[in-house]
Amino acid sequence: MTGRAAAGPLARPHERPRRLRTTPAVRRLVAQTRVHPAELVLPVFVRDGIPEPRGITSMPGVVQHTPDSLLRAASEAVAAGVGGIMVFGVPAEDDKDATGSCGTDPDGVLNRALRSLRAELGDETVLMSDLCLDEFTDHGHCGVLDDQGRVDNDATLERYAVMAVEQARAGAHVVGPSGMMDGQVRVVREALDAAGHQDVAVLAYTAKYASAAYGPFREAVGSSLRGDRATYQQDPANRTESLRELRLDLAEGADLVMVKPALPYLDVVADVAAVSDVPVAAYQVSGEYAMIEAAAAQGWIDRDRMVLETLTSIRRAGASIVLTYHAVEAARLL
Ligand code: PBG
Repeated sequence: MTGRAAAGPLARPHERPRRLRTTPAVRRLVAQTRVHPAELVLPVFVRDGIPEPRGITSMPGVVQHTPDSLLRAASEAVAAGVGGIMVFGVPAEDDKDATGSCGTDPDGVLNRALRSLRAELGDETVLMSDLCLDEFTDHGHCGVLDDQGRVDNDATLERYAVMAVEQARAGAHVVGPSGMMDGQVRVVREALDAAGHQDVAVLAYTAKYASAAYGPFREAVGSSLRGDRATYQQDPANRTESLRELRLDLAEGADLVMVKPALPYLDVVADVAAVSDVPVAAYQVSGEYAMIEAAAAQGWIDRDRMVLETLTSIRRAGASIVLTYHAVEAARLL
């Protein structure tokens, strides 16, 4: 007799993984990853000197807010259950200069917005502020330049220290240094402590890659970047460098660490989450948003499913917090 005859005409599977996929109820029961609105953070833009909210062409559905419309949008996000709000300021073109003075001005657009958001929302949400100079400099770099036009790390740290204290005074619960300067977390932590803001947390942009996916953000903040950010943001080719950045940020006192962008860097999210003893965030950036919106507008993908699938994947990779421009819609879908 042949082996085949002994086994019958077809070998029947011994294991049937499909059994746990048979009904929505069983799939729900065995799902290993859930996305909850409380883990989502909505990034928002507030701009000086516009009479009405202004749409961002490359990010359909996202606007530059006026101070008033920002308050409404923030309240809506909180009502939808979103866990936090990350605020970016967009100054009037005239207010930009070489050192980004508007970013440290207590009456600058970002600090004013933080003050009114905190007055309106109190401790109902977690108010986060972008701590970086690129929105405020006329050259568009994340720091100040030396006489050769290079980004001067240590001179930039001095600006970040002042900026952190002003943002804390304005009401930020969390400051997010995003400029990828060496030593930025320590300087920010020490400045906050020295000014009596021990309770203000630092969300470190730990692994921030020099990504084409920030393209739409440049329109969102009206940035006029000259050159690129390759001397301070990480090379997309590198992986273990993120663990080095993590080690430094944790030693310097980061309360939360972040990987950015999210979807093209899920390996990095997983690496960082495997060893970090503080919560890990991931930032689904402007270009990731734009790619979903563009394909959905053509009818090429199912937008809502794609939004939830990407958020689930980012959580599955190990991020416990996700910054996403889809936060409010995702919260409603969930
Ligand atoms: C720097 C900063 C950027 C983003 C967040 N913080 C721009 C950059 O580093 O070039 C990008 C966010 C996005 O693309 O959604 N202030």
